[in-house]
Amino acid sequence: MLLRDFLKEGMSRLEPLYPTPEARDIILSLCESRLGIGRYTYATDPGYSLSVESSQVLTEDLGRLAAGEPLQYVLGFSDFYGRRFNVTPDVLIPRPETEILCDEALKIARRHGSAPKVLDLCTGSGCIAWTMALEIPDALVYGVDISEKALEVASGQDFHRSPSEVEVTVSERSRRPVSERSRRVVLLQADILQDPPHFPCGTFDLILSNPPYVMDSQKKEMRPNVLEYEPSIALFVPDDDPLVFYRAVARWSQALLSSGGTGIVEINDLLGERTRDLFLSSGFKDVSILKDFSGKNRFVKFAR
Ligand SMILES: C[S@@+](CC[C@H](N)C(=O)[O-])C[C@H]1O[C@@H](n2cnc3c(N)ncnc32)[C@H](O)[C@@H]1O
Repeated sequence: MLLRDFLKEGMSRLEPLYPTPEARDIILSLCESRLGIGRYTYATDPGYSLSVESSQVLTEDLGRLAAGEPLQYVLGFSDFYGRRFNVTPDVLIPRPETEILCDEALKIARRHGSAPKVLDLCTGSGCIAWTMALEIPDALVYGVDISEKALEVASGQDFHRSPSEVEVTVSERSRRPVSERSRRVVLLQADILQDPPHFPCGTFDLILSNPPYVMDSQKKEMRPNVLEYEPSIALFVPDDDPLVFYRAVARWSQALLSSGGTGIVEINDLLGERTRDLFLSSGFKDVSILKDFSGKNRFVKFAR
């Protein structure tokens, strides 16, 4: 089969699910990753022919994509902050907005000086925790999640595998130098709706969290592929108590944030002011709302 023909078939099967530019992007990304070819090979080399094995793999992938499964689960990875993270349906696919949270946190951590202590609540794939640990060489980073399966994904990230164990589909840029492979995130299974446990390091300089924040009533605005494939435990909160996880983060921060420490949480843009007020009334200072790429209220920052 010619690559061009596969692209045509892929477009016809994905266009009912996605806007045309997105369908094209998904198919091109699939071919790029699976075949290790340039994105526009179909145009620069119109006679590019797929091997029998490649056709089989791509056809199977296309079946999953056409059933609505997100590309990241089909490929088993998602790129975040310049690194490749393993993802499975047990973890939320890291979102680009969350990179803004990491940017803010890294600015603060770098100002802090040596060995900042960082706590990531609701760590999921570990994308925030690992980014902090890999960007700040001497940081001590803890990641907490209630889901054992999510923690397995977080602990199995490729950064501490040797290059020979890294699959061929993993791009060169995700192969980190040896110094990065020795970095660690301490992962802990805990329910943040309960009281915090004792941490051997005492308090933290930074507490970060992207907790579940989508209200049940917002489900109707969401795409079927998110609703059907991403873990609902990672996403949803009841309409009658949408800030339940922020109360928990505030409680853990009252107990665990050092004096002078900073917290940053990702939030539901519809609840920006209510979330800010929650941290103000929990006794934190310098509480502010930060925006995302589209100008929506997306984060609350607070200090102790
Ligand atoms: C929105 S996802 C965030 C994942 C990751 N930090 C990210 O930014 O992509 C929320 C995470 O909260 C976890 N979670 C849900 N309820 C929890 C609870 N009661 N205690 C701790 N973690 C919880 C879920 O398992 C999920 O991994």
